[in-house]
Amino acid sequence: MDVDDLPDGLVVADADARVVEFNAAAERLTGLDRRSVLGQDIRTALPLQDSRGRRWWQCTDPWTGLAIRTGHRERLLILPPARELLVTARYIRPGRSEPVERVVLQLRDTESRRRAEHDHAGLISTVAHELRSPLTSVKGFTATLLRRWEKFTDEQKRLMLSTVEADADRVTRLIAELLDISRIEAGRLEVRRQVIDLPDLVEGQVRRLVASGHDESRFDLCLERDGLPELWADPDRLEQVLANLLENALRHGEGKVRVTVTAADLNGVGPGVLLRVEDAGEGIPEEQFGMVFTKFWRGGRRGGTGLGLYVVRGLVEAHGGRATVGRSVLGGAEFTIQLPSAAPARP
Ligand SMILES: Nc1ncnc2c1ncn2[C@@H]1O[C@H](COP(=O)(O)OP(=O)(O)OP(=O)(O)O)[C@@H](O)[C@H]1O
Ligand SMILES: [Mg+2]
Repeated sequence: MDVDDLPDGLVVADADARVVEFNAAAERLTGLDRRSVLGQDIRTALPLQDSRGRRWWQCTDPWTGLAIRTGHRERLLILPPARELLVTARYIRPGRSEPVERVVLQLRDTESRRRAEHDHAGLISTVAHELRSPLTSVKGFTATLLRRWEKFTDEQKRLMLSTVEADADRVTRLIAELLDISRIEAGRLEVRRQVIDLPDLVEGQVRRLVASGHDESRFDLCLERDGLPELWADPDRLEQVLANLLENALRHGEGKVRVTVTAADLNGVGPGVLLRVEDAGEGIPEEQFGMVFTKFWRGGRRGGTGLGLYVVRGLVEAHGGRATVGRSVLGGAEFTIQLPSAAPARP
C-alpha cells in the first residue's frame, strides 16, 4: 500500500531530523508542499507549538533530550499561524537509551475530536461557570432588596438594580453568542446583505461606548469616506464585529484606540474595505496569534469568556472576508478585517 492512501498524515524524520516521508494527507493537513519539506530539518519545517505557544520540539526534543522517551499519545498542537493538529509521535530507537533512528508523526484533523470532546464537556462547564457568576449577583441583590427594602436609600437601591441589569445583559449576551456559534458551526448563519455605510457604523458604536461611560478622547477615528467602494453587508453582524473588537481594545488594551476604515483591493476578490482596530496596550505575543480566534481562548488577567473573537471571525468569514491579528504601530494589538464589497452581480 502506498502511504499516500493513508487517511491520516504521516511524517517521518531520520536520525538527523531530516524529513524523509511526507504523505498526501500530511500535505493536506499542514498546507505544506512535500517538495519544500522533504530533506528539511523537521523542527523548522513543522514548527509545532503547544496551546500555550511553547515550541513543542524544544519540549519533546527526541534528538538531544532524554534518550528514553518513546514518543507520546495524541495531543493537540498548533502549526503557526493557526492550524490545529492532533499529533501522535513515536521515537524509534534501535535499543533502549540509544539515539533515535526515526521519528514518526501521525497527524489528524481536529475537527471531529474537537466537536465531540471540547464542544460537549468544555462548553457545558464553561457556560455553566459563565452563567453562574452573573446569576449569583442577580440572586444576591434581588434577595437583599426584597428582604430589606426599607433599609436602603434610593441611591443604594438604584446602584444594586443597575448591577442586576448589567448582569442580566451579560447573560443575554452570552446566550446570544452561543446561539451564533451554533449557527456558525452548522453553516446556518444568515447574512442579510444591504448597502451599508461602515464609517457611520463605526461612529455609532463609538457613540454608544461614550454614552456608557468611556472617555471620548480614547478614540481616534480615521474613516475614509470618498473612494470607499459600495459595501454590501449585514449591518447587525458588522455592529457585532465592531462591538467585540472595540470592547477588546478597551478592556484588554490601553490608551488610544484607533479605528481605520479604508478602501482596499483584496487579493483575488476585487474591491473591498479594510477595517482596522488597534490600541496602545501591551498587545498579544506573536506566538499566540494563532490562538486568539479559537473558541474559549483567553489570555491575561482580564479575559472574559473567550468567545468574542471566535464569533468575530465566524461573522467575517460568513461575509466572505478575513480577520487577522498583528501588532500595531501604537504598540498594542491590531485586528484587521477585510470585507469584500460583495455587490450583487449586475444584469
Ligand atoms: N486588544 C487586545 N489587546 C490585548 N489582548 C487582546 C486584545 N483583544 C483580545 N485579546 C486577547 O485575546 C483573548 C480572546 O479575546 P476574545 O474577545 O475572544 O475573548 P474575551 O475578550 O476574553 O472574552 P469575551 O469577548 O467572550 O467576553 C482575550 O482574553 C485577550 O487575552
Ligand atoms: Mg472579547
